[in-house]
Amino acid sequence: MTNNESLTLVATYRRTLHASVARVWENVLDWEHLPWLHRSAFAAAELVEQTPESWRAWVTLAPAARGKRALIEIQTDMPNLRYWSRTRAGQGAGSEVLTMLSPTDERTTNIVVEFRTPALPPEKANAVGAAYLQLYQRLWDEDERMMIRKQMLLDKGWSEGKSA
Ligand SMILES: [Fe+2]
Repeated sequence: MTNNESLTLVATYRRTLHASVARVWENVLDWEHLPWLHRSAFAAAELVEQTPESWRAWVTLAPAARGKRALIEIQTDMPNLRYWSRTRAGQGAGSEVLTMLSPTDERTTNIVVEFRTPALPPEKANAVGAAYLQLYQRLWDEDERMMIRKQMLLDKGWSEGKSA
């Protein structure tokens, strides 16, 4: 469920990921990777609740010394190839990021990411949108590298297992 109507679309990010949808879902559901893979954005993560389709965690934004925290909630809709990342409290509360996945082949997934925030003056909305685009470019660079590495290891294990 979304509350899109009260939110403003501040930016849209489009990208082709060299990873399967399966690798993307593993990444989305893995809250623990935030502070180590994305250490320039997140200093810590503390799980509050987790289900097979969702998680909620308090994250400390980097650098930790600034003391900025946010309660992040990930809600997946796997049958419809989309998920929401919502900030429920703390820094950026009320914002919502919707990511839509479109697999183009077994190892390639196109994503469209929509960033929405509570109403902002246009100048501020543009600045927040630009910051989101810059942040997500970096987060997906880091995630894509990890997913490609994992796929290589899986492929290696599979072929070695097969030839043994
Ligand atoms: Fe990630």
